[in-house]
Amino acid sequence: MKTSLKQFLVPMMVLAFLIGIGACTPTENQSNDTLFTAQELFPEPPRPEGQTDVIELRVDPIETVRIAFIGVGSRGTGAVRRYTFLEGVKIVALCDLVPENLEKAQNILVEKGLPPADTYSGTEDWKKVCEREDVDLVYVCTHWDLHTPIAVYAMEQGKHVATEVPAAISIDECWQLVNTAEKTRRHCMQLENCNYDFFELATLNMAREGLLGEIVHAEGAYIHDLRKLNFNTEDGYWDMWRLRHLENRNANLYPTHGFGPLCHIMNIHRGDKMEYLVSLSSDQFGMTAYAEQKFGKDSDYAKRDYKKGDMSTTLIKTHKGKSILIQHDVTSPRPYSRKHMLSGTKGFVQKWPIRGIALDPDAHSFMSDEEMEELLAKYEHPITKEVGELARKVGGHGGMDFTMDYRLIYCLRNGLPLDQDVYDAAEWSAIIELSEKSIENQSMPVKVPDFTRGSWEKVNSVTYH
Ligand SMILES: NC(=O)c1ccc[n+]([C@@H]2O[C@H](COP(=O)([O-])OP(=O)(O)OC[C@H]3O[C@@H](n4cnc5c(N)ncnc54)[C@H](O)[C@@H]3O)[C@@H](O)[C@H]2O)c1
Repeated sequence: MKTSLKQFLVPMMVLAFLIGIGACTPTENQSNDTLFTAQELFPEPPRPEGQTDVIELRVDPIETVRIAFIGVGSRGTGAVRRYTFLEGVKIVALCDLVPENLEKAQNILVEKGLPPADTYSGTEDWKKVCEREDVDLVYVCTHWDLHTPIAVYAMEQGKHVATEVPAAISIDECWQLVNTAEKTRRHCMQLENCNYDFFELATLNMAREGLLGEIVHAEGAYIHDLRKLNFNTEDGYWDMWRLRHLENRNANLYPTHGFGPLCHIMNIHRGDKMEYLVSLSSDQFGMTAYAEQKFGKDSDYAKRDYKKGDMSTTLIKTHKGKSILIQHDVTSPRPYSRKHMLSGTKGFVQKWPIRGIALDPDAHSFMSDEEMEELLAKYEHPITKEVGELARKVGGHGGMDFTMDYRLIYCLRNGLPLDQDVYDAAEWSAIIELSEKSIENQSMPVKVPDFTRGSWEKVNSVTYH
């Protein structure tokens, strides 16, 4: 009797266990690929009553977009310069703590024969700027800590916002952006310029046209030796803000450059969504080695306990069963790489460290450079066709920065949805804290919140209107 009960119970327990695994499987296509349910460390807060999503948000066209720049350091002055080449804009205010930076930005306007902008230099003056009635767009180029506070405040004052990357540095900030954009019905765009790189745009076009088949796997990265800038005590980043982040957090701190183009190509929150991620980081060696060499072994900089491991690697699984890898390393002596790689059922493309395209049935090797250039010309994105020539002249990372500016202003002037919405800003920035939690817990799978709260299938592909 005892034996027969055991004979019955054991298979039943095994069956129940297997059903349990099936039930917690997070992706649509892959059934028994994990023994663990991703940890829902960041449950989605319910949408406040009366609020709806801002997918494909349209607002009234703005004939002349009146802009206030907050933060005119290295990146901000570059943006001011580029905007002097755009039609239909007026720069009305400049705000920064450093008088020389303000002067430099103001001179750009004056030299172009444009009216000078009002200037602000107090620590909290960005609030006054956001409160001005004659501002349509607040353009944020400060250090990371102020991106979300300024963006939220600006939207609350009825302004549209464009903010440098990353738009947010915590999941809580991501939700603040989403909730404020939904409540105020204002645009909140993260200024992810890499989405407008000519090669990346061509690959978006290739993917849309089906040249690569179903995109199954993609890889992106931000690998940039920033040691010299980060440890520049004289005239590097304001208040050495970037080193502070490297000192305090072990995460992919700057995910959006490699990730943004991939998310648009893979239709994230436009028919697919991220389900969970795992992250792993090497330990930190590079900053200590560099600080020892630059400041001496006994220096304060050499003795600091830098948390950020040199190389962090994150793997993401999507609802439709696709995978994405992203990496971050700004503390190793390596050639620059913003890896952009797509692998589909019909072909493969990559950029960084070298460009290459391989198509079925000859995908064992890259096609010749001549064939690749021909293909890139054939699939040149309509936006590049429209503005590429001027963008190359104005510059900014080879023209992609100006293309981004052009698109933002074009959409605002024509009452069109922006190319990048607040959910993009939240999803791409969220990698920071999600990767941090996974790294902290031996690469534990962490569930990615759905910032659209169920609206991720409302449209089924990215449209640059
Ligand atoms: N998309 C890109 O390719 C790209 C390239 C470089 C930098 N960035 C981003 O741009 C931002 C700025 O970077 P950066 O290199 O110009 O740094 P930076 O240190 O040169 O500039 C930051 C500026 O913010 C100002 N600031 C600080 N506190 C302020 C306050 N309370 N009010 C107003 N201004 C204040 C500082 O005075 C400084 O001029 C960062 O978020 C960075 O990630 C993006």
